[in-house]
Amino acid sequence: MKNIKLFNMNIFITDDYEQMSQKGAEVITDIIKQKERPILGLATGGTPVGMYKELIRMNKENKVDFSTTTTFNLDEYYPIDKENNQSYYYFMKENLFDHININIENTNIPNGMAVDIEEESKLYEQKVREIGGVDIQVLGIGSNGHIGFNEPGDVFEPETHKVSLDKQTIADNARFFSSIEEVPTEALTMGIGTIMSAKKILLLASGKNKSEIIKKMLLGKVTPHIPASILQFHPDVTIVIDQDAASELLK
Ligand code: PGA
Repeated sequence: MKNIKLFNMNIFITDDYEQMSQKGAEVITDIIKQKERPILGLATGGTPVGMYKELIRMNKENKVDFSTTTTFNLDEYYPIDKENNQSYYYFMKENLFDHININIENTNIPNGMAVDIEEESKLYEQKVREIGGVDIQVLGIGSNGHIGFNEPGDVFEPETHKVSLDKQTIADNARFFSSIEEVPTEALTMGIGTIMSAKKILLLASGKNKSEIIKKMLLGKVTPHIPASILQFHPDVTIVIDQDAASELLK
């Protein structure tokens, strides 16, 4: 594993996906051990699944305790029923919550069934802000540079809001559905300001298809056309990527 420092960013380049998952889990458990009531910001998608498996293993071996942990997820499709196996609520239960000693009442995910979407966004934003921002926010990165579902655009959206998903995101996420027509076209997401209120950021990426965007996000201009580029302005960012995702950066 290589370690590079770039301004505020501590970058770990791992040999492979498995090592990325282990390093990610280590960064999270370090925070959990430091705090009496840790608050985690969590992400869905293919990337963090291995890290969640590692956290489950550590929990089963009594190496980490989630009994006082609270979580806030980044986003949820809209509209979607909790029980739908494509919902992020379902994903989190399947991939983490059902297998660790967390109190499910302390887990928060935007409500994909909310009737009043404006109100749901406002309440979710308030909840995150009231606790003073999460202790650590886990992020993946879209191949288009999105974080959460903050898609490329002309402005950085500050707060939790409803979005229309980018064509690229729909195409990327089609692999989880039986056809591209089934991918929801809208979602609720924390805003860029919500994400930036986290005390620490942990961004994970794996695979060659992330290599171009990783380079742009770290070395390019800060612009809402590459939402993840804003992380150049966050004071405490840890980036854990495998060699494939780092391949353009290292050229
Ligand atoms: P992925 O998604 O982990 O499935 O590649 C990342 C993201 O869209 O943030």
